[in-house]
Amino acid sequence: MQGVTEPCYRDLVLVRNSPLELGGAFTEFVRVMDKAIPVHVLRKQLGPEVFEAPVGLQLMGSESQAMAESAARAVEAGAPLVDINFGCPAKGALRGCAGSALLRDPGKMTELISACVEAVAGAVPVTAKIRAGDRDADSVEQLARAAEDGGASLLTIHCRTRSEHYTPTVYWERIARAVEAVQIPVCGNGGVTCHSDLERMRQETGCEYVMVGQAALGDPWIFSGRQVQSAEAARFLRDYEARLEERSTASLVARAGRIKQLLRHWTAGDLLGQARTEWLAVQQPEELLERLAGVSAVSAAV
Ligand SMILES: Cc1cc2nc3c(=O)[nH]c(=O)nc-3n(C[C@H](O)[C@H](O)[C@H](O)COP(=O)(O)O)c2cc1C
Repeated sequence: MQGVTEPCYRDLVLVRNSPLELGGAFTEFVRVMDKAIPVHVLRKQLGPEVFEAPVGLQLMGSESQAMAESAARAVEAGAPLVDINFGCPAKGALRGCAGSALLRDPGKMTELISACVEAVAGAVPVTAKIRAGDRDADSVEQLARAAEDGGASLLTIHCRTRSEHYTPTVYWERIARAVEAVQIPVCGNGGVTCHSDLERMRQETGCEYVMVGQAALGDPWIFSGRQVQSAEAARFLRDYEARLEERSTASLVARAGRIKQLLRHWTAGDLLGQARTEWLAVQQPEELLERLAGVSAVSAAV
């Protein structure tokens, strides 16, 4: 997720869930304008660690040639698969006719995917992520087929439409319709809030895989379903801060900002408990880190 799941966070989640529980992840999208992305930028998105579970490099753009060249460079950068984003509803993406703007043009979606498939020449699979539609979900089957026709090996479908942004109500039957419409495996996405939802989505829609978005920001163990104690939850966040310090140039304020961003979603270990407002009101980075250290120390001593 752009602006949130940079490699430090993503890798900590990957090490805490076995590949059977968490079969893979994607990078934040890389925005491709009219020029191909340099290999070193793509490498940075992938991060330095390699896991058994593949981390797909996600590209978002509308210029076929630049996208195709970027896909080829993604392979050079070590990506085990390349994913194309047709779901981002942000104004920037829409202005550039990329992301979910392309849901209005299934022919262009097919063309883009096909250009990327050709560019990677079988070295890695190319996958696609769509939303259920632009303003309504009437054409979900057509959109799913557009991805399949372009040669996508897997289709991820976020069941909200572009207009629905991130509304709490979700319609999983749209995922079931996409599953019916194509032969390729489908990964369902949208509205998973707890571990048991993973199986429920599979049962209700027939999708082969399930993708978790926002709920994974609050509970990195959602994939395994492990219920951790508050100490372990606090340790995760401390590890995250330490890793950011080690691997990036982010200042203490920026690192604490990243932690606070996660705390807004956080459910694991009931870490925030009744003191949610208090945690979120902490302004000083040092105080936030001390609080986290305090929880791990107290619980570890019990
Ligand atoms: C802040 C934010 C950033 C996101 N960035 C991306 C992205 O880079 N690529 C992508 O495919 N989806 C992105 N998404 C969408 C999520 O991957 C997911 O499809 C969406 O949140 C629905 O799933 P959920 O209901 O489980 O959260 C983003 C969502 C949010 C809230």
